[in-house]
Amino acid sequence: MAASPGVVRPISGRITNEAFYRAVVAAGKAPSAYNTQPWRWRVSNGVLDLFADHARMVDLGEPDRRLATIGCGAALHHARLTLAARGWRVTVTRRPDDADPDHLARLHIDGAAPVSPDTADLARAIALRHTDPRPVTGDPIEPEDLDTIRAAFEAQHVRLGVLRPDQVLGLTVATGRADNTEPVDAQWHAELALWTGGDRIAGAADGLPLPIAHGEHDRAATFAVLHGPRDQDLDWLHAGEALSAGSLVATGMGVSVLPFSAPIEHAGARELLRRAIPEFGCPYLMLRLGRHATATAAPRSTRLTAAETMKRPGQDAAVPGPAES
Ligand SMILES: Cc1cc2nc3c(=O)[nH]c(=O)nc-3n(C[C@H](O)[C@H](O)[C@H](O)COP(=O)(O)O)c2cc1C
Repeated sequence: MAASPGVVRPISGRITNEAFYRAVVAAGKAPSAYNTQPWRWRVSNGVLDLFADHARMVDLGEPDRRLATIGCGAALHHARLTLAARGWRVTVTRRPDDADPDHLARLHIDGAAPVSPDTADLARAIALRHTDPRPVTGDPIEPEDLDTIRAAFEAQHVRLGVLRPDQVLGLTVATGRADNTEPVDAQWHAELALWTGGDRIAGAADGLPLPIAHGEHDRAATFAVLHGPRDQDLDWLHAGEALSAGSLVATGMGVSVLPFSAPIEHAGARELLRRAIPEFGCPYLMLRLGRHATATAAPRSTRLTAAETMKRPGQDAAVPGPAES
């Protein structure tokens, strides 16, 4: 059941639970590193709580909590957008419990609110968005479209720094020059080479791969970094919310957003990025934006069901399914 704006009456537990259930189902479609969906939801006493589930990342040897927290931020934005699109005014408290760093957010429904067409459109994009790692070869993103997409990212308390072509080249060279003790740094270099066009990294000078020629990828892709002045879990949560908001607006405009975690996964790689582009402050996530020449979508990844991301009865209250309507 959707909310009725203007009607002031207590919201029943059944209606709240149904709204939360739909929010959790939508959140299951959020992007997450390695598709781990590192979040847990819990409904109790009329609030919806979001927890990071770092156990899902353990096998990946994630050195710190940032990737999981960014994924949780994306799930949080999907959930609050879904509630807004169903006509609910929601208060979100981030990091509500100092004693529990995994408790990332608490959502409370305050009442009914009108739904703007933009909010409804954005919520519809949840079902359409997906990560498409294919090279982008379509038309470049027009400056005014890029401005709109950037505004969507930046409305979530982070900055989107768009890389100039010389900065992309600088990064490519810097990663090739770095002492790649971390396998992920070497992987970053390989990915960056692919991004900038596989044919561009060829030959070697002093044993270093160097960019050579401008290929199709350069003109089609826009590279950007989500960044901000601090590097704490609240910032990563905002970065995830921004990833969701920006990607959904981009989806509506036919633009694909590919997150790229290697440059921020390890301290060495982050430092390299920070040194290569000092004006970006603390980098949270690197992104490739672009249009695909063909509309054929890449195959979708397998996601967990909403039930699999909910706390089980006995552990905490599970979110009940929606009532028949
Ligand atoms: C923090 C974060 C980092 C990611 N890093 C990468 C990456 O390095 N390479 C990549 O292809 N996809 C990356 N992704 C996208 C995920 O692989 C993708 O969201 C997941 O497989 C689910 O697929 P979907 O986005 O189509 O729902 C990342 C996503 C997040 C949230």
